[in-house]
Amino acid sequence: MREISLHILDIAENALRAGASEIEIVVALDESADRLTVEVSDNGRGIAPELLKCVEDPFVTSRTERKVGLGLPLLAAACERTGGDLTIHSALDSGTRVCATFGLRSIDRAPMGALRDTVANLAAANPDVRVVLTVTAAGGHAFTFDSSEMKEALEGMSLSNPDVVRWMQGYLDEGIGSVCCLE
Ligand SMILES: Nc1ncnc2c1ncn2[C@@H]1O[C@H](COP(=O)(O)OP(=O)(O)OP(=O)(O)O)[C@@H](O)[C@H]1O
Ligand SMILES: [Mg+2]
Repeated sequence: MREISLHILDIAENALRAGASEIEIVVALDESADRLTVEVSDNGRGIAPELLKCVEDPFVTSRTERKVGLGLPLLAAACERTGGDLTIHSALDSGTRVCATFGLRSIDRAPMGALRDTVANLAAANPDVRVVLTVTAAGGHAFTFDSSEMKEALEGMSLSNPDVVRWMQGYLDEGIGSVCCLE
C-alpha cells in the first residue's frame, strides 16, 4: 500500500468486521527516537490465540470469499522495511490492539497520506461506531478527535451529511496540522 493512512483504514475495517463499537487510532511522532507509531485498538470480538499466532501469514483469513488475508502481512512488511515492527495483542470477546512502528526518516517509509479523509470517512460511514483519533508529538502537543462528541454536538444531524463530512475534514486537518507535519 502506498500510504500509511490506507493501512489504518484496512486495520479499522478488520475491527468493523469484528463487530467493534469503538475504534481508537493513535498516531505518535517521536522525532528524537526517529519513530512513528500507529496504534489501532478496538473492542470487537478479538482474535483466537491459534489464529493470532499466524495472522501475519498471507494465507490466513476468516474471510470466506477468498483465501488470502493481506492486510496485516502487508502492514508488517511496510513496518519492517523501515526498521520497525508490528505487534498484535488480542483477547477473545474483549478486543484487539494493533501496534505498528516505522522508522520515521527511513527512505522506505510510506507517506502518511490523507489521515483526515480516512478518519472522517470512517466516522461518516459508521455513525454508530465511536471513532477516536489522537495525534501526539514531542513537547506534549496533542490533538484528539472523537466522533461521539461530534455526534452529540450535531444534535441529530447525521455524520454522513456531506457538509458535516467537509467540516470534519477541515477540523481534522487543522487539528493534526497544529500538532505536527505528518508526511
Ligand atoms: N481487529 C480484529 N479483530 C478480530 N479479528 C481480526 C482483527 N484483525 C484481523 N483479524 C483476523 O485476522 C484475519 C487476517 O486479517 P488481515 O487483515 O490480514 O486479512 P483479511 O482482513 O482477512 O483480508 P484483507 O485485509 O486482505 O481484506 C482476519 O480475517 C480476521 O479473522
Ligand atoms: Mg484486513
